[in-house]
Amino acid sequence: MKVLIVGNGGREHALAWKIAQSSRVDQVFVAPGNAGTALEGAKVSNVTISATDIAGLVKFASTEKIGLTVIGPEAPLALGVVDAFQDMKLKVFGPTQAAAQLESSKVFCKNLLRQADVPTGDYQVFREADDAMRFIKARFPNEGDRAPVVVKADGLASGKGVVVCKTREDALEAVERIARRREFGTAGNQMIIEERLEGQEASVLAITDGRTIVPLPACQDHKPAFDGDRGPNTGGMGAYCPTPIVDDSMMAWIEEHILVPTVHAMKRNRKPFSGVLYAGLMLTQSGPKVLEYNCRFGDPECQPLIMRLKSDLVDLLEATVDGRLDQIDPPQWDERPSLCVVVASQGYPGEYTKNQIVTGLDAAAQIEDVKVFHAGTKLSGDQVLTDGGRVLGVTAIGSSVSAAKLQAYTAVQKVRWPGSWCRKDISDKALQYVEKKQKEG
Ligand code: AMP
Ligand code: GLY
Repeated sequence: MKVLIVGNGGREHALAWKIAQSSRVDQVFVAPGNAGTALEGAKVSNVTISATDIAGLVKFASTEKIGLTVIGPEAPLALGVVDAFQDMKLKVFGPTQAAAQLESSKVFCKNLLRQADVPTGDYQVFREADDAMRFIKARFPNEGDRAPVVVKADGLASGKGVVVCKTREDALEAVERIARRREFGTAGNQMIIEERLEGQEASVLAITDGRTIVPLPACQDHKPAFDGDRGPNTGGMGAYCPTPIVDDSMMAWIEEHILVPTVHAMKRNRKPFSGVLYAGLMLTQSGPKVLEYNCRFGDPECQPLIMRLKSDLVDLLEATVDGRLDQIDPPQWDERPSLCVVVASQGYPGEYTKNQIVTGLDAAAQIEDVKVFHAGTKLSGDQVLTDGGRVLGVTAIGSSVSAAKLQAYTAVQKVRWPGSWCRKDISDKALQYVEKKQKEG
């Protein structure tokens, strides 16, 4: 069978690498892909169709007789790529446009969580900047008041439409940016002011066909740019899997109180959800609460997850599309933990440099138990050039988290280009957590 993967990030390289290993797959196309997918081997090739060119993707899948299309990023899902494929009776993995609102509209998501009685922060929805400002001033009457709230633009804004506030002035400024200056365009037509939650964050991803839910091992992402969780927010600077901060009993609780009622509420609202349901959770003193839902694999969470998956990914994705997840064997996982370190361009997550020559990829590929997934790269002749903010996801597996970390950073040291950098502390939270637990006895 032929498989088409839509997207060009580290997530899509990881999906292509794994799917190409399936004995059922003859050929993998990635639209538009990156240098990593271009160099992945004979079975994998790039096609120059943008991830949001829905007509182009449908046409390609029809003419090439693609047996399964897997949508990586959120933008095409929000545009209705799955609906367009379904209309043409083409098999496609991902939620419909209506179901993808769980990610594409934070207002939709919060209202659904409230309706389904899923734990999440308290919130209010606003359309008008004046109303939102009045609300903030009423709750925090004095200048300089502490204001533990988060102001969020409703729509997709590549993670930038979320402002975690400390003071009343932060909150007013956030409303100004979202609803008056329109920094996030129509994503700011509505906004949410939400209670700021405290705790550790975890990513719990599950695959569901709308009836059966298959939770995947929990991961932890590292969203702030710099070590010790300092600096601006990014798409994710690294992730590891599994995370000890979500143990088996907490996972069972999350399934029962978060995943099941969400999938059920989506079905009841006639927007059955099929694809990856990714819960961004805050593990608060009073239990896990949903910060947001994404409706796709996380990037970089996908990379360490895929590194641990032993069974055939195509079987799992196809069973989801066919609505028969209840009939297949559960996915098999390598016992060993894995982790992914993102190597980024100078300036990311702000303005960053591009077109730098990446060196050391061959040396990194020699390191045992390591796979270097490409994200923002492109091929120019036989040179790999940087082409994005997050450039590589150096992913390793090892007998312990520390062993995986050592392998990953050994490989990271081999790759470089002018201005390349990464966080040095990916997965340290796991060790800190285990040490703290041991001390507590
Ligand atoms: P989101 O896109 O909604 O996941 O928000 C991006 C990031 O903002 C999250 O990963 C959190 O670090 C932070 N965040 C969002 N909502 C809250 C909240 N209610 N309390 C604290 N932090 C939050
Ligand atoms: N790692 C965060 C995301 O994929 O949204």
